[in-house]
Formats: sequence, C-alpha cells, structure tokens
Amino acid sequence: MNSLSPPSGATLPQPSTSSTRGLHVITWGCQMNVYDSERMSDVLRPLGYRTVGTPDDADMIILNTCHIRDRAAEKVFSELGRLRKVKEARAERGEGTVLAVAGCVAQAEGKEILSRAPYVDIVLGPQTYHRLPEMVARAARAAGAVIETDFPVEQKFDFLPADRMAPAGGAAFLTIQEGCDKFCSFCVVPYTRGAESSRPAQAVIAEARRLAAAGVREITLLGQNVNAYHGEGPDGRTWGLARLARVLADEVGIARIRYTTSHPRDMEDDLIAAHRDLPQLMPFLHLPVQSGSDRVLAAMNRGHTADEYRALVARLRDARPDLALSSDFIVGHPGETDADFAETMRLIDDVGFAQAYSFKYSPRPGTPAAGAGGHVPEDVKDARLQELQAVLRVQQDAFNDAAIGLTAPVLFTGRGRKPGQLSGKSPWLQAVNVDGPDSLIGRIANVDIRHRYTNSLGGVLTEETDRA
Ligand code: SAH
Ligand code: SF4
Ligand code: F3S
Repeated sequence: MNSLSPPSGATLPQPSTSSTRGLHVITWGCQMNVYDSERMSDVLRPLGYRTVGTPDDADMIILNTCHIRDRAAEKVFSELGRLRKVKEARAERGEGTVLAVAGCVAQAEGKEILSRAPYVDIVLGPQTYHRLPEMVARAARAAGAVIETDFPVEQKFDFLPADRMAPAGGAAFLTIQEGCDKFCSFCVVPYTRGAESSRPAQAVIAEARRLAAAGVREITLLGQNVNAYHGEGPDGRTWGLARLARVLADEVGIARIRYTTSHPRDMEDDLIAAHRDLPQLMPFLHLPVQSGSDRVLAAMNRGHTADEYRALVARLRDARPDLALSSDFIVGHPGETDADFAETMRLIDDVGFAQAYSFKYSPRPGTPAAGAGGHVPEDVKDARLQELQAVLRVQQDAFNDAAIGLTAPVLFTGRGRKPGQLSGKSPWLQAVNVDGPDSLIGRIANVDIRHRYTNSLGGVLTEETDRA
C-alpha cells in the first residue's frame, strides 16, 4: 500500500492524492451489497476517486454482483460486454479504465470471469474490499489481472476507513454481521459470503455515532442473518441484537432502527421484547419463511415448522400490535407438490403480510437442492408464483389501505418524482409522497395519509418541523 507510484508506461490510471479520478459503481443484489459499494467508494476516496454518474467518465468501474438466483453469471457477462465497449471507447480517447468485478459472482466464479473476460483488471470477493487500494496499485503495475477471492483472516471492517460519506436523506445501512452457517438447501450465500461472523459492538456503535453526527436519523442494521448477531461487547461479553439496538436507541440517539434479514430460528425472547419496549425499533420486520409446508421446510433445512412460524408471529404481534410483516417465498423447491403449495397459501392467509418477495426456485450450482430429485416443471412454478403473488398483492393493498386516515411520522429521504414533491418512509416502511420543501429531506415530519397508489401512499404534511 505504500508504493502507489507505478513504473512509467503503465496503461492503467494511477491513483493519486492530488488529482481527482472518476469512480462508477454498479450495484446488484441485497442491501449488504449496497453497503459494500459505499464502503468501496470510501476506501478509494483517499486515492482521489470520486463517484461519477456514468461509466463513460469513470477511470475505475466496479460491478458489484449477486449470485442468488437465475442466470446470475450470464447477466454479469452481458454487462461486462457492455463495459468492455466503454473501456475501449475510453482507450481511444487516451483514457485508461480499471474494470473490477466484486460481490458474490466474483467470489463464486472469479477464475471463470478472468478467462472469459480478460479485459477485467480486478476480481475481488466480498471479504477483501479493504485491500482494494493495494489491488488497484497492483493492477496498475502488473500486466495481468488481479484476483482476490480468498477469505482473509483479518476482518475487512477493521481496515475500512472510519470516515464514511454519510448518505443524503437521513437513512443509512450498517452491516453488523456477515456470512451464514445455516446452509439452506437452495442457497449460495454460505459459499459466497463465508462463515457467519459478527462485528464487535463497539465498532458498530462507533460507526453509528459517526452516522448520527452526520445527520443520519434511521439506521438499518444489516446481516444475512442479522438476528443471529453475537458480537463482542465492550464488557467482554457476547451481545445480541436486542442489546445492541438498545444502546443505539438510548445512548447513540438513533431515532429509527431497523434490521434485516432475520431468520425465524434466531428470533429470541429479548429481541421480541425489544419490539415491545423500544419505540425506536420500527414496526416492520422482514422475516422470510420460504414455504408453509413442513415437508418442504424440512427439505430446505430451515429448522422450523410452519406452526412454529405462526406462533412466532403471534408473539411478535403481541409485543408490537402494529408490526408489519414481510417475507420471502420460494415456489417450486424440488419435491414441492400441489398439497405443499396449498400449505404455503394457507400460511399466507393466516399471517397476512404487509409486503413480500417471491421467487421461482432456481437451482444454484453446488447447493444440495440443485442435485436433488423431484425438480418442479417451469410452467408449474410459473402458475404457483402467479397465484401466490396475486394473494400477496391483495394483502399488500389491504395493509396500505389501512393507513389512509392515519397521521404518521415520515422520514423524508429525497425528492419525489414530481416537482415540489418529497419522498419518504413511514414507520411501516411504506413509501410516502407529499408536497413539501427540500429542507425536510433527512428529517422526520408528520403526514396525514390520504391516498393509496400501487406501491406508495400520498398525503399532506401536518407540520414542517422535525419531530425528533
Ligand atoms: N438469509 C435470508 C435470505 C437471503 S437470500 C433468509 O434466510 O431468509 C434472499 C432470498 O432469496 C431468500 O429468502 C429466498 O427467498 C431467495 N432465494 C435464495 N436462493 C434462492 C434460489 N436458489 N432460488 C430462488 N430463490 C432463492
Ligand atoms: Fe441462505 Fe438460508 Fe443462510 Fe438465508 S439462512 S442466507 S437462505 S443459507
Ligand atoms: Fe446476492 Fe450475495 Fe446478497 S448472492 S443477495 S449479493 S449476499
């Protein structure tokens, strides 16, 4: 990292603290990738890189990829084909471009990327982002590409810069836990993100303090299994998510706290109690269930039954009656019968979701389900998905209709699509649009909710001052 000046004649742009260079990051996948993309920008900022809106102006392009479903790798190669043209056009103008592929496809298929797309300069897995400056320097020096997809012993978080660009709009993601040891039959995450690990509470608190000082009102704590968080506390003991959330609320003064994604198996008593006791913990919970059939849940290795999920929801709603629930569903897991699918529909009916994501099962290379028998035909998956999404749509609309007439505190995160309009989030994570001044961006104000649109609510401001 010390010798950042490359030999003369190198074709790639050289990092420099004196001049500004363009950086364009393309982010696919989950919120953890969004967080990672921000942190990669942070780690490159001391080298002079500043974010630009288009790859054409970028001395460095990072494609941050997701491997979770479908033709993930093909999508990456087709985007790389497009970026290759950008790189070539820039080269014709005498401008070099470092092209990096990051994220879960990079982790899973790094070598394949380098052989099929030799114009890629850097391939880096999610655990190596702190080494990016060094990789940029190496790419500049070396003739060949740089690949970093090992799981290093050091935690990337210990090496990422302390100062973060605070996101505009008052809401920020903060990764507290990474990786997964649960090995659901269908899922690549344990292979792409590695073993489960939690950041020490002190490091999380320090990052939250800096975000709060920069005006952040809402923090969403992130992890593949965020409620399995078990970080080392300042007292030397292991802290769970509930304890951490309490400190962020009471000591750091974060007005709104969310967390995602949770696993039903890790929903412990103290976390449920926190939903009762902590007003700062927002009444919205994404709690993926995947299926309502015990047979399929067992085949998926989810470690709970449908009734256990129902009972958990009942306890959560007892703690926080207005809790909005969201979930993920997979239809057509190998072995799923019509009767199994009917059980999923019954669970949806019983629970009532405020919103949900649903997917057709997609075989992922190397996962147990991909090699299992009983694959469900595509047209059956299609039909099941349609049926399931139709019911979820009705539930979502009903949930949003129920907000009409309420006065709700909204955190305004930016401008709306129409001129003079602000866009924000209700406590239940609904998108809310109102007419209002830009000075409210990043602030919380009360809104009378009056309309429900397809995926958002409309209303009027009842006050123009920050509530908290
Ligand atoms: N850790 C979270 C899920 C992370 S992946 C959990 O356990 O709930 C996000 C979602 O993608 C999953 O909840 C699942 O619904 C979906 N998903 C993952 N692998 C998939 C696959 N092979 N096919 C279809 N959907 C998948
Ligand atoms: Fe994937 Fe299951 Fe881990 Fe979620 S809990 S990340 S679905 S293996
Ligand atoms: Fe995708 Fe990796 Fe997130 S596979 S969903 S980017 S953990």
